[in-house]
Amino acid sequence: MKIEVLTLFPEMFECLKSSVIGRAIDGGKLEFHAVDIRAYSKDRHQKCDDYPFGGGAGMVMMPQPIYDAFQAVDPERKCKRIYMSPKGRRLTDAVARELAAENRDIILLCGHYEGVDQRVLDLCIDEEISIGDYVLTGGELAAMVTIDALSRFLPGVLGSEQSNRDESFASNRLEYPQYTRPSEFMGMKVPDILLSGHHANVEKWRREQSDKLTFELRPDLMEDDK
Ligand code: ADE
Repeated sequence: MKIEVLTLFPEMFECLKSSVIGRAIDGGKLEFHAVDIRAYSKDRHQKCDDYPFGGGAGMVMMPQPIYDAFQAVDPERKCKRIYMSPKGRRLTDAVARELAAENRDIILLCGHYEGVDQRVLDLCIDEEISIGDYVLTGGELAAMVTIDALSRFLPGVLGSEQSNRDESFASNRLEYPQYTRPSEFMGMKVPDILLSGHHANVEKWRREQSDKLTFELRPDLMEDDK
């Protein structure tokens, strides 16, 4: 899958190039480009924002540089185009899976300042996605969260063991507690059952822990069981 991000701050995306997503990019499982919207400004000073018509605080991103960036990156309109916005559909595990299964390449538009001129959204955008009910200073972090969450579902990005564990989130349960060596740390012992080598009992214990944690911390997730 190819993901392009249209942003005023392409350098923010450098941090995607480490860890699991970095390996996915290096290994060719994910192609990623951050496109600088400013490069498409026709203004002498590469200005991309202006005062809002009707007055009010802050600046609004101008339509032309964004429109031209879309034209350059996706001239035949073959990509799924998403605007990162608190007004959008909430990103969940299911939405991340859906995006990973998308057969078009994806373009994520990141807004900044007080927003983006509505006309370029009406012209260019297929869907808006929000990562939660709070307002970020820009869409970049939201785009990174979305890329990270969907990449985990791309074939070959995670090892098979990890992919299987993801199935447990799909069944609306929180993760069970994990432990590694040493078996005793600051006087605290790892639960005996995890040292027992009895695979079926370990599985059972983990399922029970997941149920208990979900019941205590996120009972709303269990409502889908009914
Ligand atoms: N841009 C600003 N806030 C956002 C949010 N919560 N989700 C997605 N994009 C955003």
